[in-house]
Amino acid sequence: MAADFAANYRVNLRNRALVACGSARRLRLPINNERAASAPLRRDPVRTQVGIVGAGPAGLLLSHLLHLEGIESVVLENRSRAAVEATLRAGVLEQGTVDLLKATGVGERMQREGAVHHGIELRFAGRGHRIDLSGLTGGKAITVYAQHEVLKDLIAARLAAGGALLFEARDASLCDLDQKTPSIRFDHDGGSRELACDFVAGCDGFHGVCRPSMPESARIEFTRTYPFGWFGILTQAPPSSPELIYTHHPRGFALVSTRSPDIQRLYFQCDPHDDVDNWPAERIWEEFRVRLATLDGWAPCEGPVLQKNIVAMRSFVCEPMQCGRLFLAGDAAHIVPPTGAKGLNLAVADVWLLSRALTAFYRDGRSDLLEHYSETALTRVWRAEHFSWWMTSMLHLFPGNDPFQVRLQLAELGYVTSSLPKATTLAENYVGLPFA
Ligand code: FAD
Ligand code: PHB
Repeated sequence: MAADFAANYRVNLRNRALVACGSARRLRLPINNERAASAPLRRDPVRTQVGIVGAGPAGLLLSHLLHLEGIESVVLENRSRAAVEATLRAGVLEQGTVDLLKATGVGERMQREGAVHHGIELRFAGRGHRIDLSGLTGGKAITVYAQHEVLKDLIAARLAAGGALLFEARDASLCDLDQKTPSIRFDHDGGSRELACDFVAGCDGFHGVCRPSMPESARIEFTRTYPFGWFGILTQAPPSSPELIYTHHPRGFALVSTRSPDIQRLYFQCDPHDDVDNWPAERIWEEFRVRLATLDGWAPCEGPVLQKNIVAMRSFVCEPMQCGRLFLAGDAAHIVPPTGAKGLNLAVADVWLLSRALTAFYRDGRSDLLEHYSETALTRVWRAEHFSWWMTSMLHLFPGNDPFQVRLQLAELGYVTSSLPKATTLAENYVGLPFA
């Protein structure tokens, strides 16, 4: 691969000069939709340096980081902008994620509207125990700021910089990943398109097309599916607590999180096959009241339920995270159960690493960082996989409600909340380990 990259370096520099006038203008998309509908596959493919599939946190941030290094990219997203900006997911940003967003000029609203938390509560056997995240990690903290707000900020920044961001780009398929010029075929604005690239970044999430484009013989997949899901709600109410509460309870896990001074996010462990329609607001609040109750009478602040959804829980890793000229990042390559709040943050760490490797390639003609991308990223991925599995195993009720396992969970929780080294382990993983 080294020789391949080195041989192409001059070509890439030439391409870079050719594309320097702005990728949006270079994308010669048909103006007339009617004509485009019957147009055959274009034979004059548009070019970019990095073709990015998926406008989630991984794809958008990668495009932003590459732009800051003068590297061209085109982002292809199969949903509409409105759908991307409205999808509710993560809330917790690690210190490293926050620092990167700030340092690269997309953290202004996050700093204004996000809430910095210096600790979390672990609640079990009716009592709360604070983990002093900042005290245990030399001052690091987490910021609660919704994922879709991060996406809005990144989309605004890319568009303001003239970035090429194609929403509703459907039916993407990858070609020639083992060649020097791979390409992405897709439908957009009623016509078929082809985008030729130096590299493809697969940032299209767990259900995307990029990972399955790697031959089965070229990848190993590790999966664990948990026998429970999370029932999540958004409610209009004041915060129940100044910090997040992770609760172990005989009826199952519950989590109190927040979004803003008057909108809160809460979750409880549920049957992954349950239906949200089985849960009217009163039943939801009764479940939260029971699971979150403390011996001294704590109760959550209740309000109208604005949204409710159920998410499945799984751990998943694809090795390697690269195949030829395709590099996977974020959920396309790995999934963690949300108990450790790691998924978005892992996606950010992946694309930071990938942007460094691509910058070294284009700027210095070095291919070693690209060659080691998968191995380097996977080291951090497996650490986060372990942390997320550990938090999940310690806090959730498992089928059969085995009393032995419950006693082990309580022993672990007791240890984490009384031993400085053990609490430090939780804290440093929760606020986030260094990116590389
Ligand atoms: P995605 O966000 O999945 O983005 C992929 C994008 O690709 C999507 O926009 C999708 O529409 C698009 N796409 C898919 N297929 C195609 C295609 N064929 N062509 C073009 N586009 C395509 N993580 C945290 O760090 N902290 C948290 O607090 C946290 N809480 C969570 C709570 C819940 C309930 C859930 C479900 C997840 C949580 N996560 C959390 C995880 C986090 O949301 C994900 O890890 C994160 O979204 C991954 O980003 P991504 O860009 O890799 O993938
Ligand atoms: C959230 O606020 O959505 C959230 C917080 C903590 C988690 C997962 C999700 O572990």
